[in-house]
Amino acid sequence: MAGNSFGTLFRFTTWGESHGPAIGVVVDGCPSLLSLTEADIQPWLDKRRPGQSRYTTQRQEPDQIKILSGVFEGQTTGTPLSLMIENTDQRSKDYSEIAAKFRPGHADYTYWKKYGIRDYRGGGRSSARETACRVAAGAVARKVLGDGVTVRGALVQIGPHKVDRSRWDWAEVDNNPFFCPDPQAAAEWADYLDGIRKSGSSIGAVVEVVASGLPAGLGDPLYDKLDGDLARAMMTINAVKGVEIGNGFEAATLTGEQNADEMRAGPATEDGYGEPEFRSNLAGGILGGISTGQDVVVRFAVKPTSSILTPRQTVDLQGKDTDILTKGRHDPCVGIRAVPVGEAMMACVLADHLLRHRAYARG
Ligand SMILES: Cc1cc2nc3c(=O)[nH]c(=O)nc-3n(C[C@H](O)[C@H](O)[C@H](O)COP(=O)(O)O)c2cc1C
Repeated sequence: MAGNSFGTLFRFTTWGESHGPAIGVVVDGCPSLLSLTEADIQPWLDKRRPGQSRYTTQRQEPDQIKILSGVFEGQTTGTPLSLMIENTDQRSKDYSEIAAKFRPGHADYTYWKKYGIRDYRGGGRSSARETACRVAAGAVARKVLGDGVTVRGALVQIGPHKVDRSRWDWAEVDNNPFFCPDPQAAAEWADYLDGIRKSGSSIGAVVEVVASGLPAGLGDPLYDKLDGDLARAMMTINAVKGVEIGNGFEAATLTGEQNADEMRAGPATEDGYGEPEFRSNLAGGILGGISTGQDVVVRFAVKPTSSILTPRQTVDLQGKDTDILTKGRHDPCVGIRAVPVGEAMMACVLADHLLRHRAYARG
């Protein structure tokens, strides 16, 4: 099975299965002399960790990170960083009833068709347990980006219920179990999601990730576009079904006048040119595949959790019709836990492009 690596200069490779003894990630291309300890990585894993509210699965995975290589006396050495997380909550028995059936919405059928093997204990490599490794790599990427760059994610829609952007407050994101920037929407979502959860159902969501403090110039204009790489990064996250940059699909409804991010000269500098100031950011901080220096804005749609308690029609390994309901411990809305994963993927793409920018940019 190929395709376990992501990135060009800042490149990570994940390994391990959801029900094996451990999962991990090797981060290659991280520059030397960056301060890095387990305490720099752990908070991001804690943010993704399940079992923290009634709106996420009650599986208990402490997700304790161990740095096995690539750090000496609290600094990166420039050699491969190897990061490991032990799996401690592997209850295979929850999955025993579905071992001979394909779960709708999961990768069970496609994996079996392609590889001829069925890891019924939570999906093996296709399990979103793998996303913990991405979050660990993302913590390293944040070090590469430095303190001047902020990468923040928020949940902006659950089912049909959107946040009110006039109430957007980043400080609110850590005050509710949804990573929601609108406190009123968060309160409404709590009731809504309780209903979804109690009925044994699930619901989709939209995540927005914003990077601030980036220089202009990251990305290349053709096949290595920054927006192209971000779209790919987000689409590699489990359950993501759509990605938008900036105003995304909304752009199709606008006129050229409405969609123009107009520019004005900023204050003059010593050589006479002012850095331009953009009067809007519908493009999401990227023009021609290259960052403008504005916020980079990505949104992605996450489908509803496929494992639900309502019986669904499916087939078994013998090709016979059957029904399935997925017992076990699942999130009513996996979009919530996708927020730190989206942040991590954004950080990894940006760190990669920052290193590539240093190689190609005009001197
Ligand atoms: C953080 C995270 C946690 C997830 N947890 C679950 C889960 O508990 N139950 C489930 O059915 N799907 C879960 N998923 C989604 C599945 O992994 C995904 O739908 C499945 O592997 C099929 O892949 P696809 O939806 O990308 O086609 C999760 C996704 C993410 C991002």
